[in-house]
Amino acid sequence: MAVRIAGIGTSLPAKVLSNQDLEATLDTSDAWIRERAGIVTRHVGGITSQLGIEAGNDAIKAANISADDIDLLLLSTSSPDQRFPGTSAQIHAGLGLNCGAFDVNAACAGFAYGYVAAYAMMMLAGGPKRVLNIGSDALSTLVDYDDRSTAILFGDGAGACVMERHEQGELLAFDLGADGDLAPILYCRHGGTIKMAGREVFKKAVRAVAGSIEATLKRAKLTPADVDVVLLHQANIRIIESVCTRTSLPMSKTFNVIETTGNTSTASIPLAMQHAANQGVLEPNKIVLMSGFGAGMTWATLVVRW
Ligand code: UT7
Repeated sequence: MAVRIAGIGTSLPAKVLSNQDLEATLDTSDAWIRERAGIVTRHVGGITSQLGIEAGNDAIKAANISADDIDLLLLSTSSPDQRFPGTSAQIHAGLGLNCGAFDVNAACAGFAYGYVAAYAMMMLAGGPKRVLNIGSDALSTLVDYDDRSTAILFGDGAGACVMERHEQGELLAFDLGADGDLAPILYCRHGGTIKMAGREVFKKAVRAVAGSIEATLKRAKLTPADVDVVLLHQANIRIIESVCTRTSLPMSKTFNVIETTGNTSTASIPLAMQHAANQGVLEPNKIVLMSGFGAGMTWATLVVRW
């Protein structure tokens, strides 16, 4: 038994914030942001629950099923609408689901963590047959728009996938990691805004993600040449390039949306997945590698046979 992705859905708020818009209020430039981060526009003004409902609805439609067919909702987010109940409860109500629901917070690695957790639960006897795995974040609600080191990076969005028991779609290997000593380099306190030591996060991320990818491929007994599609967390195009260089994965296998979405945290991998699906590359038996990293620090890599 395995698990396939039966449907993907995404949502981005309508409001677009361009580099030019940021130039007007910050000591920054379109050229600097493009060159140092690879971002041109990002979407803002979103609400985590609403984005999650839209993406979830989309994924359910794409899977050709109804809300009643979902056996479990797993939401990853680090920008919940409130302390409690979990934002998954609001999404549960918004989608009219009839199943269990819970939140996961592994920051930008949330979707990849959620994928592994959902997969494991689906393997249990009597476990869910279909899980709606949603990553939704509205980081614009946590950004200090006077801080040029973070205001240029983050945007809002959600991505969802219906994971379904099937004979195809094997999880070949995974790696979950965390280093809580690194919490001070990227955090957001209750009522506060995002604080980030960008250069430190950059360096640690490249090292952690490259190591995690190498460990995962080794466990799967695969080489970089075996991988067909690479979906990396969309934080900075230079991080993606550095990880590719270190791991010998060619950039041509990566599918990226960062230019138009910025860093959407846990939503970035499913947004990149939808982009790859639109290009027609997510065909059965393709080897797909996903890797996310973020505050914690946390990181998670998985390699699946699509
Ligand atoms: O989702 C996971 C978490 N987030 C990340 O993965 C983000 C990781 N970090 C990054 O993406 C990059 O570190 C940034 C894009 C945040 C910054 O790029 P950088 O190349 O690491 O720049 P830096 O912080 O080393 O700063 C280089 C220079 C500095 O000026 P001096 O000291 O050389 O005079 C900064 O003050 O660039 C300056 N700078 C800016 N200039 C124009 C920093 N931010 C900006 C800006 N516009 N927005």
